[in-house]
Amino acid sequence: MSEKFLWGSATAAYQCEGAWDADGKGLGEWDVFSHGNPLNINGATGDVSCDFYHRYEEDIDLMKASGQNTYRFSISWARIIPEGIGAVNQQGIDFYNRVIDYCLLNGIEPNVTLFHYDLPNALAEQGGWANRTIVDAFAEYARVCFKAFGDRVKLWVTINELRYYAYCSNIVGNYPPNHKQDFQRYFTVIYHEVLASAKAVKIYKSLELKGEIGIAHDSCNVEVDTITKNPERVKLIAENFYNNLILDTAINGVLPASLILQLQEFGIDTSFMKFDDTFDFREGTIDFLGLNVYNRYYVTDSSDEPTEVFHNNKGAGSSMKEGIRIKGWFENSFDLTTQRNLWGREIYPQCMYDTLFDIKNKYGDIPVYITENGHGCYETADENGYVEDDERIAMMQAYIDKMLEAKSEGCNVKGYYAWSTMDLYSWVNGYEKRYGLVRVDFDDKRLPRYPKKSFYWYKELVSSII
Ligand code: BG6
Repeated sequence: MSEKFLWGSATAAYQCEGAWDADGKGLGEWDVFSHGNPLNINGATGDVSCDFYHRYEEDIDLMKASGQNTYRFSISWARIIPEGIGAVNQQGIDFYNRVIDYCLLNGIEPNVTLFHYDLPNALAEQGGWANRTIVDAFAEYARVCFKAFGDRVKLWVTINELRYYAYCSNIVGNYPPNHKQDFQRYFTVIYHEVLASAKAVKIYKSLELKGEIGIAHDSCNVEVDTITKNPERVKLIAENFYNNLILDTAINGVLPASLILQLQEFGIDTSFMKFDDTFDFREGTIDFLGLNVYNRYYVTDSSDEPTEVFHNNKGAGSSMKEGIRIKGWFENSFDLTTQRNLWGREIYPQCMYDTLFDIKNKYGDIPVYITENGHGCYETADENGYVEDDERIAMMQAYIDKMLEAKSEGCNVKGYYAWSTMDLYSWVNGYEKRYGLVRVDFDDKRLPRYPKKSFYWYKELVSSII
């Protein structure tokens, strides 16, 4: 791996590949959900999306044209092992070989995520991440990928956003399997994810493939509102909820003891942690931490109102708050002075700096990659298909400035990935919430790509800092 700073962009398999049933791919949980579940409120599917499966060369050519030297993408588990466990689909392996080889041909370092929300449906039908058998299924899938691609891929992410994925699918209920406020299932799923990830890391190291492996964690900066009556208690509980189960375990190889007590007091049956586990988390600690940085978690004491989730997938307005109240634990506070996007998410560049320093202060100099950062908004193209996305440029520049400030003050940050490479399927938000540096015209069957103003801004930025 080169030592130069990595500047790139990111996508995920289900969000951009399309070709949902091509060349032996198995059915995914998102295929089933998007094809008929009424909770798919915007009615969109990833069936075709950007058709990256057939157009990856064009997309990688554009990355190269904008000076990017790395690309983060994910592998679809069901393309590699259609039933989740068992037979390997050679055509799936061939596809990712083509993508990896084309990246390398163009001087682009592949950064490969093994799981980004898209579970094979056969495993979902057996309880998915709540069923402990998934741990070994994932580890075996990881082994197949390491053996197939590990000679060329030097940067691996086991699982994308272990917490946010578990949160959406078990607390918010907007992602399949759509459980709402099921805290028992939520913590069980995260535990199985950290265990599966650690087992995959251990396998990777045993293969001596000379690369680095990590996880991608969602924004982790917890900030306590000054009005809070019990700031220390709220801080600890919120840190445990958002970060510690994942980060302490993945980085230090230890389960946070205060979290286990906290769960038991809350009435969670922690037997899923199987304290007699023969697996030692210290054998599966990560080499680097990926951070998907969008916002902070601004918290205060919970009111006496019942537990409630505040979430909007309709881009309904910036005055809505995004977050949760967990009765007896904490709730997200609403800072009137901070700007928000139309989905209620804070636009708060300072969180980039604070997150990087939180990691440094808690975990030392573990290398960090910003594996995602970007801005979702509605956009209109001009008659030439061009989008002047000044709002995105301003927002990303402010976050990047904070990242560079933290770096110059000693944070060990080694790369940055814009989310996203091109416009893509934004999960339950559908296609209208845009993140890309490149516009995709989804109304035109040929799916033409049009670099946006941010594409040229990024090119300029990357060439001046590399
Ligand atoms: C991250 C995910 O949480 O944020 C991406 O890793 C996702 O998959 C991105 O698309 C933006 O979130 P959303 O919900 O606006 O698409």
